[in-house]
Amino acid sequence: MKGLSLTRLEVSATLWNSVKRRMVSNIPPELFDKRTKYGPKSTWFNDPALDEAAAKQQVRISPSTLLYSGKSSDGKSHILTSAQYLHRELPVRLAHRVADFRQLPFVVGCDESIAEVHELYVRAFHILNKFSPIENFDGEQKYSKVVSALLDDFRNVVTTLAEGFKDSRKYMPNGSLKEFLDRTLKSRLGIRLLAEQHLALHEDRPNFIGIININMNLRKTVERWAEFTRDLCLNKYGKAPQVKISGHVSATFPYIVQPLDYILPELFKNAMRATVEHHWNEEGETLPSIHVTLANNDIDFVVRISDRGCGVEHQHLPHIMDYHYTTASLFYSDSRKEDGGYMDDFVSLTNPGATRGPMHGYGFGLPTSRAYAEFLGGSLKLESLQGVGTDVYLRLSHIDGPKESIRI
Ligand code: ADP
Ligand code: COI
Repeated sequence: MKGLSLTRLEVSATLWNSVKRRMVSNIPPELFDKRTKYGPKSTWFNDPALDEAAAKQQVRISPSTLLYSGKSSDGKSHILTSAQYLHRELPVRLAHRVADFRQLPFVVGCDESIAEVHELYVRAFHILNKFSPIENFDGEQKYSKVVSALLDDFRNVVTTLAEGFKDSRKYMPNGSLKEFLDRTLKSRLGIRLLAEQHLALHEDRPNFIGIININMNLRKTVERWAEFTRDLCLNKYGKAPQVKISGHVSATFPYIVQPLDYILPELFKNAMRATVEHHWNEEGETLPSIHVTLANNDIDFVVRISDRGCGVEHQHLPHIMDYHYTTASLFYSDSRKEDGGYMDDFVSLTNPGATRGPMHGYGFGLPTSRAYAEFLGGSLKLESLQGVGTDVYLRLSHIDGPKESIRI
């Protein structure tokens, strides 16, 4: 049998060659450490530095720590301290991701897209782990350039994972795909928020400390994404429902807007798609409006999005929070395929956030939004009023609330 089967190393060499072709780095060549341009040597499977980092505990910090360490009396020493924290923390978090990829069934890890993401993490780990300790602003600047380039290199990770698991999910033991993706997406959100926070400390934006808007106006944020999604919907179908906002419309509080930049367009896209799809013969003005209700209190805030798009049918309801489950026509995950579905690439149009790449109707919108909401100490719930419409409740903890419910 031995002569017929490929060894792990041979499989990895083949994979490496295809992955290498697809991996394009944004790291400036002068900052690229040549030692990290390695192929599938034995370090691919046996790397003491990686194992050592993966055994370390992650140090998750509260948003209030981010807030208070976002300024210093000399106006710059906090930037150095922040880079030093990232320098310690990022390799540990990346090593945890790599360790998780290595727990996947071997056949899943051989999928080209999964191998590509695995490789990205291995490569980022090596680049950041080998980066010299940051002792001055020159080092800090170089470090920030590398981190910024890596953020860019990783921008399509969610789409690539969605593609990879599309075929290989059948090899995942029951429930383990959801657990893996929830863990990966939550951890990735944390990593990206920390990296973006550090980079944003270099900017001097009024009302902001790093990426934290110290006075975020909830209504304006919701309105911005409602308008954005409406424009896409109008462009695509020539009509779109109105969005009406009520409740605590003047609420302002400190918040990190990035996750909302992902979640809100996904939710509006679903509500608009359902509304247009189920009122296809109606003109724009007569389409039933989407109603958004905002509620703010000391502990958390809630955004309820209510549409009249006929709700989610009983048969679909148990699956809509599953990764890959979609009733969009462009792409069907499995045998639950249904007819119709003229709403093709509208699902792919809402992809502005930095935490994401294009989502071509992969059925990732709801489960990813729910994972992000949970990471932020909140929840995402959907109530279907079959035959009438859907209410989606996005509940998120305040970052300066009485109890520390979020750690990034
Ligand atoms: P996608 O938009 O790519 O299909 P999502 O995870 O956002 O993926 O949604 C999964 C499925 O849940 C949708 O395909 C749709 O069938 C259903 N769904 C989500 N939101 C609504 C809604 N507001 N009204 C009706 N169905 C919805
Ligand atoms: C990610 O986007 O998943 C990352 O880990 C980015 C990080 C390497 C800066």
